[in-house]
Amino acid sequence: MNLKIGVIKGDGIGPEIVTEAMKVLDKVAKRYGHNIEYRQLLMGGASIDVHGVPLTDETVAEAKSCDAVLMGSIGGNTSTSPWYKLEPSKRPEAGLLRIRKELNLFANLRPAILYDELKGACPLKEEITEGGFDLMIMRELTGGLYFGERKTEEVDGVMTAFDSLTYNENEIRRIAKRAFDIAMKRRKKVTSVDKANVLDSSRLWRKVVEEVAKDYPEVTLEHMLVDNSAMQLVKDPKQFDVILTENMFGDILSDEASMITGSIGMLASASLNETKFGLYEPSGGSAPDIAGQGIANPIATILSAAMMLRFSFDLDKEADAIEASVAKVLKDGYRTIDIMSEGKTQIGTARMGDEIAANI
Ligand code: NAD
Ligand code: IPM
Ligand code: MN
Repeated sequence: MNLKIGVIKGDGIGPEIVTEAMKVLDKVAKRYGHNIEYRQLLMGGASIDVHGVPLTDETVAEAKSCDAVLMGSIGGNTSTSPWYKLEPSKRPEAGLLRIRKELNLFANLRPAILYDELKGACPLKEEITEGGFDLMIMRELTGGLYFGERKTEEVDGVMTAFDSLTYNENEIRRIAKRAFDIAMKRRKKVTSVDKANVLDSSRLWRKVVEEVAKDYPEVTLEHMLVDNSAMQLVKDPKQFDVILTENMFGDILSDEASMITGSIGMLASASLNETKFGLYEPSGGSAPDIAGQGIANPIATILSAAMMLRFSFDLDKEADAIEASVAKVLKDGYRTIDIMSEGKTQIGTARMGDEIAANI
């Protein structure tokens, strides 16, 4: 099969972790007889440095011409990097938000799985993680606070900032359907997370989710307030199967979910639209604090590449091979520093990629 993959290496640890994912993809291609054509695309700070903007129209068009896009992460230190002296619409994150919107990537899947081998890296007590957990966050990605109107102006002599949170019923319905579809292939439970005790957008969210649920009688639906959900995630993560939520809540809860799997460096992600196209990226950021040191964990990016093979190319066998290889390498005791625990072998980014590729 011919795979045309756009590659956004991005900023900070982005190039380091994407290089390892490509190493693993190349091994898969060799082993299973596929041909990969990579297109290097610039986005975020790397694009600002060359073009003065975080994403050009040409890059959007090139991304659209690919079957899927693999991305590292974009952005810099938001207090010290010169990119954050630019106006907000020219900063690295604006590129990411624009590509999500332009490609209509409304469904962001973030699977949080506690590998047996990583229990030592999980900060929760053993009795909580006994038997592991496996949950899927279905985060709405093209609406809500991220894309609402915003402005900063003086109101009655006082500087005032506005951010607005809007959802319409169609946006809620399409993401809810995705969540129920995926629940049907899993343990058939959807926890819809909102703040319906305060927000109108959450009250509409609940109503539409309940309508969608009628088409999925086999799936158990529960509603949970977001503050309680944050607490339940550390109290009893096993109770969750699919967590369905809006953009900002999903952003925050997915970082929390990542940490209970051991590290943000483990959390893969797929951003999908109604077609087979997808943007695949680790859920974490560019980690400027460790960039350039060769110590970042590439596993989230490698697992994102596996999601790409599964969702965009229907290459399930190949995706399984990557996931099995990650499990094997962890079982063999190899760890990057973020998931290191006693008695294990600490290795760097490139060696982790080598080990995972070697087992394909
Ligand atoms: P971050 O996720 O980059 O880092 C948070 C912490 O997690 C840091 O201590 C970092 O070292 C660690 N970490 C992250 N990924 C890791 C990995 N693969 N291996 C080991 N440790 C890892 O979050 P931040 O510091 O708040 O943000 C830094 C920049 O990244 C900001 O500019 C932000 O906007 C951007 N960001 C981008 C994306 C994306 O491109 N999808 C996602 C989140 C944040
Ligand atoms: C993520 C990131 C982005 C988000 C930022 C960089 C805009 O945190 O993908 O989780 O908030 O969606
Ligand atoms: Mn985030």
